[in-house]
Amino acid sequence: MPQLIAGNWKMHMLRAEAVALAQALRTGAAGGAAELLVCPPFTVLAAVAEALAGSAVAVGGQDCHQDKQGAHTGDVSAPMLRDAGASWVILGHSERRLNHGETSELVREKTVAAVAAGLTPIVCVGETADQRAGGGEAEAVGWQLSGSLPQGFADGPGGVLAYEPVWAIGTGKTPTEDEVADMHAFIRAELVRQFGDAGAQVRILYGGSVKPANAGALLALPEVGGALIGGASLTAADFLAIAGAAARG
Ligand code: PGA
Repeated sequence: MPQLIAGNWKMHMLRAEAVALAQALRTGAAGGAAELLVCPPFTVLAAVAEALAGSAVAVGGQDCHQDKQGAHTGDVSAPMLRDAGASWVILGHSERRLNHGETSELVREKTVAAVAAGLTPIVCVGETADQRAGGGEAEAVGWQLSGSLPQGFADGPGGVLAYEPVWAIGTGKTPTEDEVADMHAFIRAELVRQFGDAGAQVRILYGGSVKPANAGALLALPEVGGALIGGASLTAADFLAIAGAAARG
């Protein structure tokens, strides 16, 4: 399976910049080894999806509500994302878990809703700095994995997991290669424990301060099935350089 290189644009990009970035990615993406995805903010998702239609770059949302529709001011549902041109959605990002109080149980409900709407979920897990300092990183990630992933997560085309240590996001700090390899091995074992053979097929992305300079080393580690990229996904040159470092698995 190819490695997945996913860009999380977070709360960046007005329409003109978003479409210009999408067009640059469209031109630069053709023929690479990696599978490419960008997740723009809701307001420009349809415009980006239109700019990337028929290209090698897929489009996803950054979150969705767990219900299909209803009285939920300010929220967006999975069928709405699909209708706007998304085929993927990021769920349980630490910025949602920490800033919006999202629990693993809620993330699991959202994941069920995403799959029901035909979206491929990327479910994020990762420990805080305090948890790692106290040696509790595997326990923290283990609880998130058992709480956030619904039955059937690994079936069919299957969902994707993203390991993003909270302290590495947007900080320029990354875990050592051994720390990434150890956590990915732990996550793989947990996925197999939860889902049997299907758990062995789930791609596990690394995320947190991935940039062109460190992408090659991170993407070469065992059990790393791709990368989830924030800051470096906002320029075509950096995102495409990271994609160029990916290999077909
Ligand atoms: P970063 O963000 O690449 O800016 O560290 C990663 C993420 O939050 O997905």
